[in-house]
Amino acid sequence: MTHTWSSPSNIALVKYWGKHGQQLPSNPSISFTLSNCRSTTSMTLKEGKGFTVALDGVDKPAFAAKIQTWFDRIDDRLPWLKDHHVTIESSNSFPHSSGIASSASAFSAMALCLLDHARKAGLSTMSSDFTEEASLLARLGSGSASRSVMGGLVVWGVHKGTPGSSDNHAIPYPHEVHPDMMSYQDLVLLVDVGQKSVSSSAGHELMAKHPFAATRFEQAHHNMDALQGILKAGDHWAFIDLIESEALTLHGLMMNSSPSYLLMKPNTLAIIQRIRQFRQDKQVPVGFTLDAGANVHMLYPESLKSTVESFANDQLKSLCKDGRMILDEVAEHHKAVKDSI
Ligand code: PMV
Repeated sequence: MTHTWSSPSNIALVKYWGKHGQQLPSNPSISFTLSNCRSTTSMTLKEGKGFTVALDGVDKPAFAAKIQTWFDRIDDRLPWLKDHHVTIESSNSFPHSSGIASSASAFSAMALCLLDHARKAGLSTMSSDFTEEASLLARLGSGSASRSVMGGLVVWGVHKGTPGSSDNHAIPYPHEVHPDMMSYQDLVLLVDVGQKSVSSSAGHELMAKHPFAATRFEQAHHNMDALQGILKAGDHWAFIDLIESEALTLHGLMMNSSPSYLLMKPNTLAIIQRIRQFRQDKQVPVGFTLDAGANVHMLYPESLKSTVESFANDQLKSLCKDGRMILDEVAEHHKAVKDSI
């Protein structure tokens, strides 16, 4: 049986940084699910053992170790899996080595394929809720993947003010949101398209001994609290303040880790400065966030689309690697995850 699912990437607003136990987060996080940056993955299961993995038709033995670790971690939830041979074929909508992490979209798509197989073949799973179980399985591959199995705003990690929130799986953001906040665009400015100098696993690890860890985890809870009012009111200015602080905190934590990492490049800073200058000159709410890398995600409401896109073409494109920018936006629930068979 072959199952094909397409799953999007996501961009965190309050960042997950630090984990313990089996891929459990040290603090709650919330993300926007994206629309255009996605992985489409097919899994063919037949009797046998082992697996093969290919990206865009090319065998990728380099991915095998990560997938094997994942299969080992999900063994108790999908005990039938070890009696199957799995052929995995994946492709990403975003360009190769664009510096956009594909682990969230790929693990999410793979988790959905496996669960779909269980459902169709009448095999056992541990939870009756398909999306919840898919999120949990995806989390065991890559923490942020837990947030890619559904659209809109997604919360992962226990937070007192978010009923139903769990460290085990993500949930749709349960509170009222001003419609403008769901129109956000994400223009990804590609500064560095190479291999990251620190893997996210190594980065999470650094938090275990980080001198500011406890304060950071507490701050994430406060930011989750603060976002509730901001999202409800549609307060773009407060939203930008908060997401920029989260992004710079993440990079700050890496800068003062031991060993320390500087993941921004000179053009990351140049882009940030130009965004802030543009915001001040034009008095428009455009801001940025960063992943654990050098690329900048510029976020703005759809009403500013043409203004911000011409600014990006005039002033930011030349700071991007080969002028590369990827336009994305928040995906609503029904557009996020697709069963393409
Ligand atoms: O899912 P991981 O282990 O690759 O960690 C991702 C961490 C960040 O992207 C930096 C933040 C987040 O919440 O997505």
